[in-house]
Amino acid sequence: MKNLLYDALNLDPDDKLALHRFSRQAGVSPQKLDYYNRGNILPSGSDLKGICSAGDIPELKLKIKMGILDSSVRDLILQNADEIFPLIENTVKRDNESKSVPPKVLETELGSLYQGDCLELMPHLESESADLVFADPPFNLNKLYPSKIDDNLKAEQYLKWCEKWLAECVRILKYGGSLFLWNLPKWNSYLAEYLNRRLTFRHWISVNIKYSLPIRGRLYPSHYSLLYYCKGEKPNVFHPDRLPMDLCPHCRGDIKDYGGYKNKMNPEGINLTDVWSDIPPVRHKKYKKRNGSNELSVKLMDRIIEMASDRDDVIFDPFGGSGTTYAVAEIKKRKWIGVEVGPIEDIIRRFDNLDEDAQYLSKIRKQTNCLITSEDLKKRIENGWWTPESVKKEKIGK
Ligand SMILES: C[S@@+](CC[C@H](N)C(=O)[O-])C[C@H]1O[C@@H](n2cnc3c(N)ncnc32)[C@H](O)[C@@H]1O
Repeated sequence: MKNLLYDALNLDPDDKLALHRFSRQAGVSPQKLDYYNRGNILPSGSDLKGICSAGDIPELKLKIKMGILDSSVRDLILQNADEIFPLIENTVKRDNESKSVPPKVLETELGSLYQGDCLELMPHLESESADLVFADPPFNLNKLYPSKIDDNLKAEQYLKWCEKWLAECVRILKYGGSLFLWNLPKWNSYLAEYLNRRLTFRHWISVNIKYSLPIRGRLYPSHYSLLYYCKGEKPNVFHPDRLPMDLCPHCRGDIKDYGGYKNKMNPEGINLTDVWSDIPPVRHKKYKKRNGSNELSVKLMDRIIEMASDRDDVIFDPFGGSGTTYAVAEIKKRKWIGVEVGPIEDIIRRFDNLDEDAQYLSKIRKQTNCLITSEDLKKRIENGWWTPESVKKEKIGK
């Protein structure tokens, strides 16, 4: 859907003369009109007044024609639902076409990987069958994927596509199950609105990773958004990891002054917050499971799976990529279902050598749920810094 503003005003985007005439009448520059139209942004203030008056259209009608259904419009639709429904009932498109299940290309003790479009697989998965859904879709950044999918859709098209597979993810999720959605903040701000009406919002987790080069006139994009929802009031499983305290990378000394609180600090580590700054991008060739970008860190998946699932739980991820979710699920003894529309050789190869991921995972686990890792503890003792043990002794001595 494009040109919704111009359509509402009966303006032809190619008729420059008419646009100029309208712009003069409304008192809004052609550049601004173009901005409102291209971004489907509701004008405000005097611009809104001028546009409604020049277009002889009430504000409510303009909003509906632009698809801007804020709560005041929604209230009106609700109040008039009985009258509106018969008007639209017969125009609803029904997607009844049943497609066959995509081929299964890998089966392990715990999981199954299918090759094909997730939208073709999902209708074949049972409702309320997954304990955890994790999705890392393409970000519509015009990237070249091995699957050659179109990663340069119009914003509306991209969001519509996301809503389609999210609807299926929500259906497949068990009551009490958790859903995580990894995307750019821009897209997740829209998708959160969709999910807020279907699931219970838990957190917007900001994962601090620089994901592109600095852009002139913009802040340096430095975090991904990880949306976390559950179905129902609270999640069936919630055991977030605790993290070690931040230390100086050189001497392993304190970065913050803990003063008299040292003995109150939990030896199991610091509470996990909704800002994660310790997730490395997968850049090093040694750890990359496929060429190019779009591969998530094992550490990220380990944290999510640990937090929101138990052994033998079922995890579903509709966007396989290099198979990070599936590999971590398999190592952590969760059942899993996966699908990838593009080549799946990287995933198969990864499963042929899961030891590599398992070793990395065991290293990560040693660095969680402790206040100071054993490696750092040694260095702190050498350098004369306090340790939970020394603080305890000091307290007893007093
Ligand atoms: C961002 S990557 C996922 C990376 C993955 N999380 C990992 O860590 O390796 C997105 C993947 O989704 C795949 N994909 C895109 N559209 C798809 C669809 N409709 N069904 C299944 N997979 C799709 C792409 O080919 C790409 O490999």
